[in-house]
Amino acid sequence: MAIDGKGVMENYAHTGNLQSRIDIYRYRTPAFDPVDAAVELLPRSGLGLVLDVGAGTGRYTHRLRALHPEAAVVAVDRSPGMLTEVEAPVMTADARSLPYPDDAADAVLAMHMLYHVPDIPKAVAELRRVLKPGGTCLVSTNAARDMGAMSQLWERVAREALGPDGYRFGSAIENFDSDSAPALLRASFDSVEVFRHQGTVAVPEPAPILAFFDSLRTWVSAGDDVFDAILEDAARDLDGHFAEHATFDFPKTTVLYRCK
Ligand SMILES: C[S@@+](CC[C@H](N)C(=O)[O-])C[C@H]1O[C@@H](n2cnc3c(N)ncnc32)[C@H](O)[C@@H]1O
Repeated sequence: MAIDGKGVMENYAHTGNLQSRIDIYRYRTPAFDPVDAAVELLPRSGLGLVLDVGAGTGRYTHRLRALHPEAAVVAVDRSPGMLTEVEAPVMTADARSLPYPDDAADAVLAMHMLYHVPDIPKAVAELRRVLKPGGTCLVSTNAARDMGAMSQLWERVAREALGPDGYRFGSAIENFDSDSAPALLRASFDSVEVFRHQGTVAVPEPAPILAFFDSLRTWVSAGDDVFDAILEDAARDLDGHFAEHATFDFPKTTVLYRCK
C-alpha cells in the first residue's frame, strides 16, 4: 500500500509509535546512539540558529541545546502531538515549506524523516534554502533491505493475512533509504559525505518486537481485528523462536549524511 500523508499524520499523532520503534535499538551491539553520531558531525561551537526538522520526541534538539548553549535550537515538526514534551522554542511546520528566510540557519537536521515527506526534492531544496552558505545539513535514514529476520517475520505473518498487496516491511521508507537518498541530496547540495553505522540487534524477549510491529498499525489498510490476528501470529512464531534461542537477532544499519 502507498504511505500517504494521512497515515503519517496518524502514526505521529502522539509519540508512542515512534518511541516503540526507538526502544528496540537499546538491544543493539555495538551500542550506538544516533544522537552521539550526529552531534559529532557538527561544528564544536559558534552555532547560531539550528533547525531540527521532523524533531519528533526532540532527542536531537535536547542534546544540541545541552552541547551548544549559545545556539537557538528550534524543534520543527508537522505534528503538534509530537512536540508536546519538547521545551520551547518549537514550531509546527512542514519540511516542504519552512517559515524561515533564505540563509537563516547555521545547521539544519532532518533525521529519519525525509521518507515521510510526499515531495522529497522540495523538502531537500528547503533545507538547502534556509541554510547559510558554509552551514551544515545533517540527514539520516535507514539502510535499504535492512533488518533481515524482523522483516522476514513480518512478511510471513502479514502476507498470509493481507495478501501480496498488504503492507510490505520497509515500504514506508524506500523512497528515501540508503539506495535512493544520495542522489536526492546531491540534487541540492554540492557535497554529501556518507557515514554508515552497522550493528546487530539481539532482542531477549518477544515484547519489544511485538510493540515495534504494533507501531506500524496506522500504515496497514486492514481493520483492527485483522491486525490483531497478525500480531497473534507473530507472537506464536516468536514463542517458537524463544523456545530454542536466547535472543532474536537482526542486522541494523543507520546512515548519516553531512551535506554542505
Ligand atoms: C521517524 S520520526 C523521527 C523523529 C526524530 N527526528 C528522531 O530521529 O528521533 C519522523 C518525524 O517527522 C515528522 N514529519 C513527518 N512528515 C513531516 C513533514 N512533512 N514535515 C515536518 N515533519 C514531518 C513526524 O511527525 C515525526 O515526528
